[in-house]
Amino acid sequence: MKNSIRLMAALLLSAAAAVASAAYHVSAASTMVKGDINRDDIVSVGDMVVLKNHLLGRYGLNDTQTIAADINGDCAVDSLDLAALQDIILGSMDKLPVGTWIGDCGGGKRYFCFDSGTVKITDPTAGTSESFLLDVTGNEAVFRAPDSGSELSAFITWTDDLSFVLKWENGSTESFRYFCAEKISPEEFLSGRWVTSGGRTFEISGLSGKLTEKDGTVSRFEYAPDGENITFRFGSTDNRTPGKIVHNDSMHFTVTWNDGTSERFTRQEIEVRDGITYVNGILIANKTYSLPSDYNPGKILSEAQAAFDTMKADAAKEGIYLSIVSGFRSYTYQGQLYSSYVNRDGKAAADTYSARAGHSEHQTGLAMDINNAGSGFNNTKEAKWLAANCVKYGFIIRYPLGKEDITGYQYESWHVRYLGRELAREVADSGLTLEEFLCIDSKYKT
Ligand code: DAL
Ligand code: ZN
Repeated sequence: MKNSIRLMAALLLSAAAAVASAAYHVSAASTMVKGDINRDDIVSVGDMVVLKNHLLGRYGLNDTQTIAADINGDCAVDSLDLAALQDIILGSMDKLPVGTWIGDCGGGKRYFCFDSGTVKITDPTAGTSESFLLDVTGNEAVFRAPDSGSELSAFITWTDDLSFVLKWENGSTESFRYFCAEKISPEEFLSGRWVTSGGRTFEISGLSGKLTEKDGTVSRFEYAPDGENITFRFGSTDNRTPGKIVHNDSMHFTVTWNDGTSERFTRQEIEVRDGITYVNGILIANKTYSLPSDYNPGKILSEAQAAFDTMKADAAKEGIYLSIVSGFRSYTYQGQLYSSYVNRDGKAAADTYSARAGHSEHQTGLAMDINNAGSGFNNTKEAKWLAANCVKYGFIIRYPLGKEDITGYQYESWHVRYLGRELAREVADSGLTLEEFLCIDSKYKT
């Protein structure tokens, strides 16, 4: 195949179509390819011969061939099309792609990062990333594996400066669109569901995803992560939106777009298993998310209990004495407690400090009240020690002062929630409540 003068058929129906998404799914079998007059899936001198003979009155063209031959799209097949066909063939010679391109073979997309003489192919679906030596002669590209030396050839046909098509040795075609100048770092893929401070939701899988705008409008996007740079392409246009990305913690990153505006992304994967809600794997019980009545671990979960025991022992060394005054509470018991508060203070008041049945964190087995579940605990040396040190043991003060509207509860200096050390540290460092950290609400529906 090397040194062949054949060109793969790829010139698309019109210049407009060439940049539109419809033209992105080139398939030799189904797509009318401009210039491929003899319908052999390759734009070549063979097509020039057919066109020349047609113009000389020697061949008639059928309808499909006429469309393919009207290269300049002026609804006439004439010598201008012959000149245009020649330009396609000559224009495709010795042109090398540089930067990152997205290849689409119909069944899936992958990145090709072209550099001088090399190309790295990243397939997010297969989870592979491989480098090849690349040798382009005329319109033939040879991909050579550096280790085995095995070769794979493909013919390149340029559609325009931002798109080309490869026809691989096995006859399959892959259409390419330019993505960005940056390289791709596959380890930086942001797979998952992210909600942003702009009220948008990004659902990312591999190199592409679905964007739901605040008003519910849905579109598709592709993106390329590269260290501190990130480029998105929204919708089917060629408008690329670059930005700088800062990873804040395991569940957040911030993108500063080129216009200077910033958008904070929060990972938010909500899963409900056996009626229990997990956000990013974290069990949540608040006014929005409830627990089933039969969820009953019966006691504080062992990991949380062990963390408390260690904390208690360390505190004691400093003359601080901690004890659990309320740990696990069953659905039924919580219901009784809440009712007694409603009877005493009324529903509105009770809702500011007591959870309804199924909504208490105490039912999770991961929350506990320390020493004195009342405002008398505030500002005690024990409360101060707890606030300053609980994170080291994997706990957070769950209902902080000033965040009542977000957590749904009054300040509780005594109520801690076990999250594990790493996560508790991230939440504490963020200065956010758990609701803010996960971008979730705490509001009763009724
Ligand atoms: N006091 C907390 C909010 C509860 O009842 O679970
Ligand atoms: Zn509590």
